[in-house]
Amino acid sequence: MITIALSKGRIYKETLPLLAAADIVPADDPDKSRKLILDTNHADVKLLIIRATDVPTYVQFGAADIGVAGKDVLLEHGGEGLYELLDLKIAKCRLMTAGLIDPKPRLSGRLRVATKFTNVAKRYFESRGEQIELIKLYGSMELGPIVGLSDLIVDVVDTGNTLKANGLKPVDHIADISSRLIVNKASMKMKHDNICSIIDQISSAVA
Ligand code: ATP
Ligand code: PRP
Repeated sequence: MITIALSKGRIYKETLPLLAAADIVPADDPDKSRKLILDTNHADVKLLIIRATDVPTYVQFGAADIGVAGKDVLLEHGGEGLYELLDLKIAKCRLMTAGLIDPKPRLSGRLRVATKFTNVAKRYFESRGEQIELIKLYGSMELGPIVGLSDLIVDVVDTGNTLKANGLKPVDHIADISSRLIVNKASMKMKHDNICSIIDQISSAVA
């Protein structure tokens, strides 16, 4: 059995053609089905449909053999217990700091940063020698500076439309992001041939 962890939405949509190149076709559409485990055209290949942030955790602990996760999510997770084997070149964006177009005076002595990427933000500001106060959020980070919760946010930016629509501007670039194919370390040993065959076919499709 090979289990592949994917998140609904853009990663699922953009991974489908790559899976098809490896002759893996889901039997259900996650937007129409409430099922969390999807069958495929192969009895021994299943898809797990989970939150984007949870994909590395499922792969780390071997609950999934393979996963597709954004580099942002992998940087935040840390990568323990898994191999990052392939850049799928999908769901491209940038991890950035952002703040108000017209910043108000600093809220407190320390710069306040609101984000769901707290590990990334901590490392980034430490590397610049800046002491910050971190505020953990789970979404809609753009609200932070507007309502006076934080001075800056750390979030992914693609077109910049979400920032603009909320009176924010990108400030500093942290990393270029795309989705990566990740594999559980033990699965890579135990199911080496099956996993490598899938990866080779996906790799050709990416190229
Ligand atoms: P969760 O459900 O765990 O909160 P999420 O809502 O960020 O995660 P998605 O919006 O599906 O999940 O994003 C999945 C991945 O796609 C992100 O981890 C990131 O790598 C990438 N991504 C996010 N937003 C964009 C965007 N606007 N344009 C391109 N890629 C994006
Ligand atoms: C992501 C991210 C930003 C937005 C950036 O949200 O959290 O809000 O995309 O993209 P843009 O620069 O093109 O505007 P998403 O669309 O995934 O919605 P979500 O907040 O529900 O994850």
